[in-house]
Amino acid sequence: MKLVPEKTGDGSETFRNLVVDELYHTKSGAVTEAIEKYSEPLKVWQKENPVILDICFGLGYNTGAVIDAIRSHGNNSKIKVYCFENEKVILEKVLDVNPGFKSYRLIREFVKNFLREKRETLSKGNIELVMLFGDARKKIRGVKCEADYALLDPFSPKKQPELWEKEFMENIYAALKDEGSLATYSYAKVVRENLEAAGFKVMPGPVIGRRSPSTLAYKYKKTL
Ligand SMILES: C[S@@+](CC[C@H](N)C(=O)[O-])C[C@H]1O[C@@H](n2cnc3c(N)ncnc32)[C@H](O)[C@@H]1O
Repeated sequence: MKLVPEKTGDGSETFRNLVVDELYHTKSGAVTEAIEKYSEPLKVWQKENPVILDICFGLGYNTGAVIDAIRSHGNNSKIKVYCFENEKVILEKVLDVNPGFKSYRLIREFVKNFLREKRETLSKGNIELVMLFGDARKKIRGVKCEADYALLDPFSPKKQPELWEKEFMENIYAALKDEGSLATYSYAKVVRENLEAAGFKVMPGPVIGRRSPSTLAYKYKKTL
């Protein structure tokens, strides 16, 4: 599968996937999207020993943004990230790009070990990264009531409706702890409806480079 490199509005690199004919990130800024749609609105630094589900890992920018945010806020507790991905072609690109996250050297080592030596876990400096390679809809069933945060980042509902269905949302809901929360760039009606049908309390997220806000979803009743 051919991936075409493309520079985004904040100078960071992404790729166009020619099969779905979509970019892996928003054109306005790939790194900015990871920070402003995922790590910032979820306030990922607030929990001790956070466990994160990076659903649709791709180049791992969301994992990079989350780890950097946790550490830059002085939270030095143990971080565990489950990384869901089903394409080795995009993982190979992790070895080439340079998004500037402090944690990206670790992410690159983790991906390289996975691709070259089939090692699915990397533990270093109180950070554990676990590759759950395959269809995220199946892999998610192996995680139960364990995670604090879910970063949901498939291609669009139009191109990949199966990753936005109610049943998948229910399994993500089940993978989260009672206080768990989810962020996704999508603001599509069907996405919000399926999140709600799965039991989440849904709220608008920040507006970045698009006219409508992204989406935040909470397993508990969120008070503002
Ligand atoms: C929009 S991109 C995500 C970009 C990514 N978060 C990043 O920071 O680079 C969607 C990703 O989902 C992956 N994907 C598509 N279908 C999947 C599936 N059924 N299970 C797991 N990953 C899948 C694609 O290979 C692609 O890397």
